[in-house]
Amino acid sequence: MLGMSRRELLLGSAVTATAFAGGGFAATRANAADLRLPVSALTHSILPDTVTKGMMGFGTGGPAPILRMRQGERFTVDVVNDLDEATVVHWHGLRIANEMDGVPYLTQNPIEPGESFRYTLVPPDAGTFWYHPHCNTLAQMARGLTGVLVVEDAEDAGFDQDLVLNIRDFRLGSDGQFLELFKARNAARGGTLGTVSTVNWEIAPTYDLPAGSLVRRRLAVTDVTRIGTYSLTGADARAIALDSNPLPQPIASGDLIIAPGQRADIALRVPDRQEQTVTLSLQTQKGPKTLATFRPTGASAKRSLAELKPLAPNPVPVVDPAKAETVEFVFGWSPQGDAPLPSICGTLGYTFWSINRVAWQGDVPSPIDPLALLKQGKPYILRFRNESPNAHPIHLHGHSFKLLRSNKRPLPPLVTDTVLLLKEETLEVALIADNPGDWAFHCHVIEHQKTGLTGYIRVEA
Ligand code: C2O
Ligand code: CU
Ligand code: CU
Repeated sequence: MLGMSRRELLLGSAVTATAFAGGGFAATRANAADLRLPVSALTHSILPDTVTKGMMGFGTGGPAPILRMRQGERFTVDVVNDLDEATVVHWHGLRIANEMDGVPYLTQNPIEPGESFRYTLVPPDAGTFWYHPHCNTLAQMARGLTGVLVVEDAEDAGFDQDLVLNIRDFRLGSDGQFLELFKARNAARGGTLGTVSTVNWEIAPTYDLPAGSLVRRRLAVTDVTRIGTYSLTGADARAIALDSNPLPQPIASGDLIIAPGQRADIALRVPDRQEQTVTLSLQTQKGPKTLATFRPTGASAKRSLAELKPLAPNPVPVVDPAKAETVEFVFGWSPQGDAPLPSICGTLGYTFWSINRVAWQGDVPSPIDPLALLKQGKPYILRFRNESPNAHPIHLHGHSFKLLRSNKRPLPPLVTDTVLLLKEETLEVALIADNPGDWAFHCHVIEHQKTGLTGYIRVEA
């Protein structure tokens, strides 16, 4: 990162610079935000020789810019809604002030077409995060609105390069046009899968990397549905952080299960010779599918993973579970199957799911009561019980929690904001409720989120 100007740091990559070519920055305006982030409709070519209509993007074309921030430093971004429907933008995993969290009615009014909203973000933690709309969420994310956000570590670990991989599907027919974004019968089960796997909006891209160098690969699964098993073959690599939090010990990066909303940071030692390509693949029923290829170039830099400094843990408060009160959440079917309430933020027209037997009614100005009231500063164990035969990546806004135990498997001592709850699993996590406000709490399979598996937790002073 040495020698980069602040602007390059904020823009992050060549991709970003292209996305903002043409004066996206408002650097000369009085009180200018650090970044102006338009949300726009666009056409783009995902499948070869086709142009996909009805896509949506951050910026003015192409995949979303990588937003780079610094730990503990204030970053302002003006989200400008150039769509012809309402939106809001949420900063997934950032433990920030509630009014900046980007959830319709819980934290702000939806941003109407033509309007903008200034977000002021002071990220307390370093790591790999992401951003996406929280209004018309299925349609807007499925059409392209998912971006990666990096909070730089205060101290560099010694990588030669940082490579962000935004992994997601698009649901396209062979003509390159969007298929129906979901099927109701799937929404009531595991969700509707996309048809085209992409990395940074490209199908099986190849990245040239300096031979023998150390690369921090930041994988973010921003798909709306797919819970995938990802493997990296052909190189010496270690997972060093999951969901933005450093692992106490790096682990072999063999097969990683990454659910929607989750991230994995992998330290990769690029092989020495050009023919030693490295492959990132997704496990499928038909065998491994290549998502991206990495090709060593040039003379070997001869570096070694042992040269990397360990990442500093994030300042997430530590809980003494013995002093914590337990709060239970049950995830299951919707008891009555009522239609959701009409909302400016869209509905899918069905209610299939619930938390504590109450289905989220939709994003409306007076939402149902919070699922739990937590006292600011107090320790809690949250017990997640999955009554359903489907897995759910359960996500809480505004806090990180530590995994404690499960009735099905040993759990690593991870700190995270999104945990994959397996079918019929009961799992406990611990947190200090240190961030006041109403915090959205939902499954990150967006069809589940939008058909009832949503609620919120109130942390009060
Ligand atoms: Cu990734 Cu409620 O968010
Ligand atoms: Cu979130
Ligand atoms: Cu779910």
